Amino acid sequence: METIKRTKIVDLLKSEAFGTTVNVKGWVRTRRGSKQVNFIALNDGSTINNVQIVVDVEKLGEEFLKPITTGASLSVNGILTASQGKGQRVEIQATEIEIYGTADPAVYPLQKKGHTMEFLREIAHLRPRTNTFGAVFRIRHNMAYAIHKFFHDKGFFYFHTPIITASDCEGAGQMFQVTTKNLYNLKKDENGSILYDDDFFGKQTSLTVSGQLEGELAATALGQIYTFGPTFRAENSNTPRHLAEFWMIEPEVAFNDITDNMELAEEFIKFCVQWALDNCREDIQFLNDMFDKELIARLEGVLKDRFVRLPYTEGIKILEEAVAKGHQFEFPVYWGVDLASEHERFLVEEHFKRPVILTDYPKEIKAFYMKQNEDGKTVRAMDVLFPKIGEIIGGSEREADYDKLLNRINELHIPMKDMWWYLDTRRFGTVPHSGFGLGFERLLLFVTGMANIRDVIPFPRTPKNAEF
Ligand code: 4AD
Ligand code: MG
Repeated sequence: METIKRTKIVDLLKSEAFGTTVNVKGWVRTRRGSKQVNFIALNDGSTINNVQIVVDVEKLGEEFLKPITTGASLSVNGILTASQGKGQRVEIQATEIEIYGTADPAVYPLQKKGHTMEFLREIAHLRPRTNTFGAVFRIRHNMAYAIHKFFHDKGFFYFHTPIITASDCEGAGQMFQVTTKNLYNLKKDENGSILYDDDFFGKQTSLTVSGQLEGELAATALGQIYTFGPTFRAENSNTPRHLAEFWMIEPEVAFNDITDNMELAEEFIKFCVQWALDNCREDIQFLNDMFDKELIARLEGVLKDRFVRLPYTEGIKILEEAVAKGHQFEFPVYWGVDLASEHERFLVEEHFKRPVILTDYPKEIKAFYMKQNEDGKTVRAMDVLFPKIGEIIGGSEREADYDKLLNRINELHIPMKDMWWYLDTRRFGTVPHSGFGLGFERLLLFVTGMANIRDVIPFPRTPKNAEF
């Protein structure tokens, strides 16, 4: 076969070089046609769109074409022509085809018929080859890029926080342990507690639930930073919104108060949604047409209005009034409750009909590091609540006062051996500062319209599932 430099399908579909000989490589989506002419839809992952290969059956031979079935991989030389058929502008009149690999239709699981999302999760090693997951993972890449661009352009520094840690940032005790100890023969003290002095790090360590604490060390030196990395939570929640391993973006800014923090969060998330609409249009259009006819309207919807800013106490009042008027929630509503996503979504989707930033939560349901309000009951927390998702961002102004922070650490019995270094930010040159965490997969749920968080990360880790 003649060697011709490969053109990616995304570029080819825009090309005007009719009459030239080109090469494309990719995987067969379908082959159909008659005794005289065959049409192969070829996809190489560079775009949701396929290129149509037109084959003169007599020229290449019926026997040769037989193994070209869905999933087979090909290299095709041919002449780029303006397409007569509808649905595409260009096509390739094949002159030569090389079959790299076949995909036996008797066993290749991705045949043309529509598969359920549940089935595709069982073959997560192959699902990137479907149109749907191709679209989702191209969008995932573009959103990661948008996030770096947003912060870089604002003068933030990307700061790498550790993945293995000895402290529990959120204090929820949902950590995966990291150890090289022999689990069949653990060294224990006289009370039966495990000793870690002979473990790899000489102390008990875990996978991080958040890079925030180290992010604060950086923000109180470099001014404004963000982290973007994997985080791990051993929470046994089998919901469409929770993963045991997910990616989080955590900006942290010195001298920002809670109001500045809300402004940053709103600007940031609107930038991301706008970026998706501007740069992932074909993939989003595909997902809109296939799964969720309101997707594009919902994306444009959140860009329109300023987000509501509402204290938690006011939010509870609205929910209680709804209950009094007969609205049924699965979980109870009262001051002090940690809101369920049905409550969050009621505020966003039914009451205000736009995103809501809920602030000033009861201190009992929030982490130790949040700035305490004068009322003694609430802290300067802020959760950004989104349609279909509920909580998409969680953040706060941080407690900058050394004594108040130390008191809270003691009240919650957080061991000082874990926190002395963090307290030093308040001991030396303390400043007001704020930050938040955006769950990357929650953002992707919103942008793609997928219904389950397992379908926006390539290889989901959830309770009882670590395949692939
Ligand atoms: O609200 P969270 O727990 O806040 C923190 O971790 C803070 N340290 C952030 C900060 O202030 N720097 O988590 C932040 C976000 C949530 O709003 C949610 O979007 C996402 O992380 N998240 C999860 N996403 C997927 N699976 C899970 N199990 C998640 N837990 C939290
Ligand atoms: Mg939260």
